[in-house]
Amino acid sequence: MNKRRPRVIITRKLPDVIETRMRELFDAQINVEDRPMTRGELSDALRHADAVVPTITDRIDKDLIAGAADRLKLIANFGNGVDHIDVAAALEKGITVTNTPGVLTEDTADMTMALIMAVARRVVEGANKVTSGDFAGWAPTWMLGSRITGKRLGIVGMGRIGRALARRAKAFGLSIHYHNRRRVAQAVEEELEATYWDSLDQMLARMDIVSVNCPHTPATYHLLSARRLKLMRPSAIIVNTARGEVIDETALIRMLEAKEIAGAGLDVFEHEPAVPPKLVRLAKSGRVTLLPHMGSATIEGRVDMGEKVIINLKTFMDGHVPPDRVLPHML
Ligand code: 8YV
Repeated sequence: MNKRRPRVIITRKLPDVIETRMRELFDAQINVEDRPMTRGELSDALRHADAVVPTITDRIDKDLIAGAADRLKLIANFGNGVDHIDVAAALEKGITVTNTPGVLTEDTADMTMALIMAVARRVVEGANKVTSGDFAGWAPTWMLGSRITGKRLGIVGMGRIGRALARRAKAFGLSIHYHNRRRVAQAVEEELEATYWDSLDQMLARMDIVSVNCPHTPATYHLLSARRLKLMRPSAIIVNTARGEVIDETALIRMLEAKEIAGAGLDVFEHEPAVPPKLVRLAKSGRVTLLPHMGSATIEGRVDMGEKVIINLKTFMDGHVPPDRVLPHML
């Protein structure tokens, strides 16, 4: 028995335990340098592997997929969102695509809550005052934020992360409102004491805090358009731990500058890793908190994601249907 081990190209460095297991199971080629692959390197990977494990830093478009070798049968994404992969083109070419749902839900919901707190209570701005030597003593009217308890949170996208956020927010005394393609089960609404808004426009006009928690698909690109952002109250804040493309970033910046919206907490950007200098300026002024796409960045989360990738790879290589297949109706 001299069966060739499947060649799996992993585009970024992963946690050590995951890399070790991948090397045991497969002919694993890992980008230990951890520099994002160039288009040429990615194209090469697609031409020489049985399976590729990409991440959000790899844009796998139609043309790259068209150039993939016939032996490439699986793209096992390390991550939940697959908007960087032309899944339709992959499926058409007979390439299965998998992702890592479920294991980054709680971590991302935690970070969303952290951003809400950071913006409303000026956490980063306050911390910077201390380290920059600007804390000259307490004063009654200094560094005042806005109270969280009793405010209305509107969640755009009530999937796994939206619900995990709702559970946390409820404990913080926020009332939960949501807009989703489909209304969630009554039992879930009751557990979360959540109010469903069929009209996103109407919900936006009434919220104190808006959180974006839907995937980026053609249907959600600029869902928070200039027109919709304008519906928000000037006292409202918006947070985004989903994908930058869901918000019209230029329109948001304009509104922040004009003080037509009170603040923003952004973990994701429309043209990542580029962050518009105007947003950075706004962050320095304190009404905006910016994070470098770290919503799911916990060691436990990354290991769980790696485990999911391994299970998807192994199940597929053993001739079975991998558990986390991305199907056309999910796009
Ligand atoms: C990941 C994410 O870190 O899984 C996702 O969709 O946005 C992030 O939490 C990243 O995408 C991994 O590829």
